[in-house]
Amino acid sequence: MSKTLIEWAQGTDAGPPIVATAAWKGGDGKSTMARELAYLLGAVVVDFDWDAGGSSRSMGYRHEHFVRAPIRDAFVKGRTPTPISGRRKADLIPSYPDLVSEQPPRDEVTDHLERWARELGRPLVVDTHPGGGELTYGAINAARTVVVPSVMVKESLNALEGMVDELTDYPLLVTPNKVDSPPAWARRRLSEIVRRHEIPMGPLVHDEPWIRKRTINIAISSEPVAKRAMRFVASMDKLAEAVRDYE
Ligand SMILES: Nc1ncnc2c1ncn2[C@@H]1O[C@H](COP(=O)(O)OP(=O)(O)O)[C@@H](O)[C@H]1O
Ligand SMILES: [Mg+2]
Repeated sequence: MSKTLIEWAQGTDAGPPIVATAAWKGGDGKSTMARELAYLLGAVVVDFDWDAGGSSRSMGYRHEHFVRAPIRDAFVKGRTPTPISGRRKADLIPSYPDLVSEQPPRDEVTDHLERWARELGRPLVVDTHPGGGELTYGAINAARTVVVPSVMVKESLNALEGMVDELTDYPLLVTPNKVDSPPAWARRRLSEIVRRHEIPMGPLVHDEPWIRKRTINIAISSEPVAKRAMRFVASMDKLAEAVRDYE
């Protein structure tokens, strides 16, 4: 039977669960899935992507309007950041551009995240920058589940293969995204990659061209769900369930 949200959110003695989204390639859906998952799981989005294309800006946060950077303060002073409350979207611990050069070593990043989850008493969904830097390794080391979106095209599958070959002992959940009648060779390649390391797969997420044109920053999964969004939201519900039930 599927774990309830409350059971899952309680976490373990180590604290509430931490989820990360990661991929060795950009543009495959990390930030989109992080925002929707956090909303559906009642978790806080921690944005570890310093680029303007990350979650903070898409959630309506503009760092240039703020003097302080909560993640910098948290890393430097050991202070747990206060999330910005979202209405019809997840709460957010936002990123800032200098984060790229201010990354603590991965072990410290892991310690910080675990402390934030414990002190906030909330699950976290950490959205990462493409590829593996200290922040990303710190996040995936803290994570109980690492959601790995992959598009079924050659470049993404190459990146996925490199990533899973490197991270064989991590709790990965490979989730095909932007799926639109993929050719047989791509389906074969994906199943070979996941089968080789016995990696569980999340639901198939269809290509939804309207997502790219969205300008509002509320969660796609927030009620009332638009009719055209129902198929996508159903796949995000399944993804959230796969994250809750991940062993
Ligand atoms: N299922 C989908 N269908 C269509 N477009 C998508 C889908 N998922 C993500 N996108 C779009 O793809 C682009 C990259 O997604 P994003 O989540 O920012 O990727 P990443 O964080 O991995 O770089 C964005 O324009 C996003 O709106
Ligand atoms: Mg992103």
